[in-house]
Amino acid sequence: MKKRPHVVVTRRLPDAIETRMRELFDTELNIDDTPMSAEALGAAMKRADVLVATVTDRIDAALIATAGPQLKLIASFSNGFDHIDVEAALKRGITVTNTPGVLTEDTADMTMALILAVPRRLVEGARVLSLDHDWAGWTPTWMLGRRVTGKRLGIVGMGRIGQAVARRAKAFGVAIHYHNRHRVAQATEEALEATYWDSLDQMLARMDIISINCPRTPGTYHLLSERRLKLMRPEAYLVNTARGEIVDEAALIRLIAGGSIAGAGLDVYEHEPMVNPKLIRLAETGKVVLLPHMGSATIEGRLEMGEKVLINIRAFFDGHKPPDRVLPSML
Ligand code: DGY
Repeated sequence: MKKRPHVVVTRRLPDAIETRMRELFDTELNIDDTPMSAEALGAAMKRADVLVATVTDRIDAALIATAGPQLKLIASFSNGFDHIDVEAALKRGITVTNTPGVLTEDTADMTMALILAVPRRLVEGARVLSLDHDWAGWTPTWMLGRRVTGKRLGIVGMGRIGQAVARRAKAFGVAIHYHNRHRVAQATEEALEATYWDSLDQMLARMDIISINCPRTPGTYHLLSERRLKLMRPEAYLVNTARGEIVDEAALIRLIAGGSIAGAGLDVYEHEPMVNPKLIRLAETGKVVLLPHMGSATIEGRLEMGEKVLINIRAFFDGHKPPDRVLPSML
C-alpha cells in the first residue's frame, strides 16, 4: 500500500473537511484551535510532507530555511498568500497553493455591507435599540447619514473581488471607477460602466468612497500612504476588506480624527489580531465601523476553501500540478 502523505493542519477546519482529510491522508489536526507559535510551526515543518497553513501562520524565509527535506507542499487554507514567503518556499522546491475564487462573492458582500454601513450609520443606529437605552421615536433631523446612490466608488484593485464589488455597487446606483495595474477587458469595463484611472492619486482625490481590493504584495505595502490618504476628500469614506498593511493605519486614524476623511469601514488591520485602541475609540464615535476579519466567513465559503485544499494536496501526490499553485508571476 502506498504511504499516505503526512499532513499537519495548523488550525481547526470545518468538521467535514477535517474528516475527509483524515480519510485521505495521515493527518494531524489542531483540535483545540490554538494558533501555532513559530517554534511549533518550525517543528511541524520538520515532520510534515504537507503543511495546511492559514492566514494566522507567519511562514517567513527563516522558518522555511529550517524545514525538513520531506516538506513538499504548503497548501494554504486562504485566498491571500502574503503570510508565506513564497519566493523562499519555491527556492527550496516547496510548492505553495491557495484557495482562490471561492470567497470572491462573500468578500464582495461584506465590502458592500461596509460601503453601506459607514455612510448610513448602521452600527450607530443598531446600538440605539438596546436594553439600556430608550428610543424617543422618529425625528426629521436625527441619525442622518449620507446617501450612497449617485456617489462615486473608486476601487483599488480590479481583480475578481474588485469586479464583484463593482457589480454590487452598480446595482445600488453607484458610479464605478477603478485603478489597477492593468486595465481590465473592454467588455468588463463596458458591462460595469467603469472608468479607469491610471493615476491612483488622481482617482483618490475625486471619489466619495474608496474600496481596497488588491492583494498584499511587497508593492502594495502602504499603497495608501499618508500622502495618498491626504488626497482624499473630507466627505469621502475608505473601506478595506483586503489587507491592513495596504493602508498606513496610523495616518488613517489621524486623518479621520482630524476630519480630513469622513470615515472608514475596516475588516482588516495592520497588526492583526491587535487593533489600534484609537480605532476602537473612533468606532465608538460612529466614524468607523470595524469588523474582525470576517469578509469571507461563511460556512459555504469555508467548506469550498477546504475542498480546494483537499484537491490541491490530492493532485500534488497523484503527480499532477495542483490547480491553485502560487506562481512567481503572481508575487
Ligand atoms: C483569505 O483567505 O485570504 C482571507 O483573508 C481569510 O479568509
